Amino acid sequence: MAKAEKKTAPLALEWMQTDLNEEQRKAVGCTDGPVLILAGAGSGKTRVLTYRIAYLLANGLAEPREILAMTFTNKAAGEMRERVGRLAPHLITGMWIGTFHSLFARLLRREAERIGYTPAFTIYDEEDQQSLLKSILLDMNLSVQQLPPRLVGYKISMAKNNFVRPDEMDKTVDNEQDALIAKVYRTYDRRLAELNAMDFDDLLIKPIELFELFPLVKEYYQDRFRYIMVDEYQDTNYAQYRALQLLAAKHRNLCVVGDDDQSIYRWRGAEIRNILDFEKDYPGCAKYRLEQNYRSVKNILAAAHSVIKNNRQRHAKKLWTERPSGDLVTILKVEDDLDEARMIVHKIAMEMRVAERTFSDVAVLYRTNAQSRVFEEALRRERIP
Ligand SMILES: Nc1ncnc2c1ncn2[C@@H]1O[C@H](COP(=O)(O)OP(=O)(O)OP(=O)(O)O)[C@@H](O)[C@H]1O
Ligand SMILES: [Mg+2]
Repeated sequence: MAKAEKKTAPLALEWMQTDLNEEQRKAVGCTDGPVLILAGAGSGKTRVLTYRIAYLLANGLAEPREILAMTFTNKAAGEMRERVGRLAPHLITGMWIGTFHSLFARLLRREAERIGYTPAFTIYDEEDQQSLLKSILLDMNLSVQQLPPRLVGYKISMAKNNFVRPDEMDKTVDNEQDALIAKVYRTYDRRLAELNAMDFDDLLIKPIELFELFPLVKEYYQDRFRYIMVDEYQDTNYAQYRALQLLAAKHRNLCVVGDDDQSIYRWRGAEIRNILDFEKDYPGCAKYRLEQNYRSVKNILAAAHSVIKNNRQRHAKKLWTERPSGDLVTILKVEDDLDEARMIVHKIAMEMRVAERTFSDVAVLYRTNAQSRVFEEALRRERIP
């Protein structure tokens, strides 16, 4: 069935008017070609993707099986699926909505035999990976002091996500430790294959290897996924970027939403460049900005803006809200980490007593894990769970 014939005037869907603001509506209705949606936190990015899927289905622009929607968490995927189900009932079976890892695992199970696995291959989580690495290090007579398994796991993961195979790693090493890691990497990959197992990184890179080896398989998926949508695009790493590029090559209906101000996965290889370069990779892409924030009060947005406007690598945007100003943001000046923890905990305790808040109203964010201990101790002293 020729898909072009199915295009009719878009349905006047009631929820387009009631549930979306004007900019969101435009983004949802823009269904042809690459689309970049830039938006800050709480501005309805996930909502736009969800409604876009419902819009495509309700207007007959796509069949459920032609939709691929990638998220970073199972929670977001679940919410999306559920919401689409309500907006466009009877149309959700066959859609691929899920995390990168879960969807690529699904794809790999279908194609496993082509790359030497059985469809029931095991997925190794970090713990499994660590115990395999430890046993390899043991076999090589390397102590954990000489070569910490965590470091090895991290370096292997980085290599995989940049498509560096053990051989190539071998060629580029310039110190003894990296030479050893390259060796462990080779054994590790061989052992995984023998065990019919893949680690999390394999789930991302094996589809690309598969596509390179089997062009017809690649074409099947390129053909099939007429519309591809990606949430939190700023958090994609190089492997995910490549996979999307391959999958979207035919129809070019790739719609990504992201916030270049809130990349939180830098440490595991997220490339903020992916979002900054989208316009270069997809010339002529449509671009929308969602600047109305539905979550925070004015003073929070102003404080956040005054900090992030100084970042050089970002697309200019400014969030606003119809919500009230709210309380002023307080900045505390502290002597050191102990002082900081003490003052924050004191403030929390005050809020509990004076403003009758509950513990679930409070969140403490910190920059590195090392900072958490001081906080935990200070909280324990005040008997705050
Ligand atoms: N047009 C709208 N009218 C009313 N509420 C909205 C609208 N758009 C979004 N919201 C609400 O604002 C909140 C944030 O929306 P959503 O989760 O889609 O934003 P997001 O940009 O994906 O946030 P995050 O940065 O956390 O991923 C949700 O509760 C959503 O229901
Ligand atoms: Mg979101």
